Amino acid sequence: MKKIAVFASGNGSNFQAIIDVVQTGELKADIALLVCDKPGAFAVERANAARIPAFSFNPKEYSSKEAYEKVITEQLTSYGVEFIVLAGYMRLLGPTLLGEYSGRIVNIHPSLLPAFPGKDAVGQALEAKAKWTGVTIHYVDEGMDTGPIIVQERIRIENKETRESLQQKIQKIEHKLYPSILQMLLMKGEVTNDKKTRTN
Ligand code: GRF
Repeated sequence: MKKIAVFASGNGSNFQAIIDVVQTGELKADIALLVCDKPGAFAVERANAARIPAFSFNPKEYSSKEAYEKVITEQLTSYGVEFIVLAGYMRLLGPTLLGEYSGRIVNIHPSLLPAFPGKDAVGQALEAKAKWTGVTIHYVDEGMDTGPIIVQERIRIENKETRESLQQKIQKIEHKLYPSILQMLLMKGEVTNDKKTRTN
């Protein structure tokens, strides 16, 4: 089974959705590690409850992104991680992680990219009075939500939509879509590029 790491910064409901399908066997993967840049985040409690190792760190305690990404990379290597799943990780990745895991990092974003990238995509969609928004799963590159798109699902924004109702609709879709796309990617062996293919 492929070893994956999930990166999260907050609540970790997508992380939980992935834990749940791994536990039922619907997603054939081994969640080897949670990486979290906010030591007090609820995602860390979810990892503890599921007995998944967690590496949490405070970026401010490092001299640079390169410095903490080197430590993350060491952690990933020590757990044999082959594929990275960003699930609410609120930081851009730098060349250290991208260099090591290029083509093997995915992210989920709560809008139909390229619309509403970055923070508060739900708020941006409401502010813009958009009729549609949605969820995008994409490969990660150095930009802000700019990597190649894998899949998108649309959601209608109703006239009386509130931030809470829209957030709920989005998360309901995310929690189903992310596990199923991960299963597809991991099964198809699309998780490795030639350079990085591992035999163990
Ligand atoms: C999700 O809406 C995801 O699309 C975005 O951040 C949010 C994380 O939520 N990247 P959670 O921490 O998984 O509950």
